[in-house]
Amino acid sequence: MLLNDYDDIREGMPALLSQILARPAVAIDLGTANTRVASADGLRLVEGPSLIRHVQQGRPEQGEDEYISYINNKLVSSPLRGGVIIDVRNAANLIRPLLKKAAPSWRAPLVLSCAPTDSSDHERRFLAEAISRAGARRVVIIPEVWAAALGAGINVDAGVASLLIDIGEGVTDMAVIRERRVVFATAVRTACADLQRAVRNVAIIGHKISLYPHEVQRLTQEVVGRATSDDPPAEGKIKAVGMGIVSGREMSVEVSRRELIGAIEPVLGRIMLMIEVGLRRLSPELTAEISRSGICLSGGGACFQGMDRLVARRTGLAVRLAPEPLNSVINGVRSALGQWRRQDGWWKNVVWPNVPQSREVPEAVARLAP
Ligand SMILES: Nc1ncnc2c1ncn2[C@@H]1O[C@H](COP(=O)(O)OP(=O)(O)OP(=O)(O)O)[C@@H](O)[C@H]1O
Ligand SMILES: [Mg+2]
Repeated sequence: MLLNDYDDIREGMPALLSQILARPAVAIDLGTANTRVASADGLRLVEGPSLIRHVQQGRPEQGEDEYISYINNKLVSSPLRGGVIIDVRNAANLIRPLLKKAAPSWRAPLVLSCAPTDSSDHERRFLAEAISRAGARRVVIIPEVWAAALGAGINVDAGVASLLIDIGEGVTDMAVIRERRVVFATAVRTACADLQRAVRNVAIIGHKISLYPHEVQRLTQEVVGRATSDDPPAEGKIKAVGMGIVSGREMSVEVSRRELIGAIEPVLGRIMLMIEVGLRRLSPELTAEISRSGICLSGGGACFQGMDRLVARRTGLAVRLAPEPLNSVINGVRSALGQWRRQDGWWKNVVWPNVPQSREVPEAVARLAP
């Protein structure tokens, strides 16, 4: 079904009727931590955490109802891991209400969405399926980092190469774009979630406390800033609050800065290694162009104070932040929707780069495969 299916029929109709018949078009950035859905005209941007409450499947055994519903009410998680869907049914449940809000029309919308450059065909197919199940009429998927570049204001049509790195919740994606093509891409399924997990584990193992999510975020912000600074090694402790694992009561602890930095350094190291190896694999011509244009950082990871400084130090290149790091992808997908409106099939020129998969297809996805 083409975007302009109804264009022929609509020709000659009164403008209002023609407007009513127009199929809405929507951009979706389904991220591991945050989902953003925008209408093509940019008037509606609906966003929320990528969390779903697990629904009970089948009828529980007699006598188990109360306990099971209690447990189910507590189970909240993301249907994505490492930037890709691991649970199609719940991903559809997550997208459905956001899609309705962004495109409140009786006509099923056309959707443009995106996936990491190292995603497999399976992973992209399950993304398309989740969006279709959520109510879309037709789905097209483009590379996420290509969209991020567009949303960061990079001229993707330019003859000079640009390098964008998107550090999200589950995946760090890096791509060189020139003349509308992703000429080089690489990715690693290590990102903010791993930084936060490292911080959480220090508290669990060393202090028997499960920190509240906002506390994990606060501590991660602080130690990433310290780990990336040129100051002498951080001393002292940071106070944090959470739920005691043994006592089951709220408690506060003092966690050593040095210990926290020690825990996040290997994670930062994996991200930096991916970037360094990626840069080494560029052709001399691309390297020369990138050394002039520098690196643009986007995604939530770019918001951590000092991340730009760290990337600049490790690569020796000029690094700048995207104007709205958290919204680069959705802004880019939305602006690409405009091109879809003007020229159906334009995305066929957006070639998926051949990036080796950084891990196996997740089990849940593999099970759903025909
Ligand atoms: N100022 C900030 N505001 C919001 N999130 C931030 C900020 N600084 C760092 N972050 C981190 O950014 C992460 C979310 O980033 P982002 O929204 O880009 O991920 P995502 O798009 O959902 O994931 P992915 O693209 O990997 O699937 C969170 O883990 C959060 O800790
Ligand atoms: Mg993202």
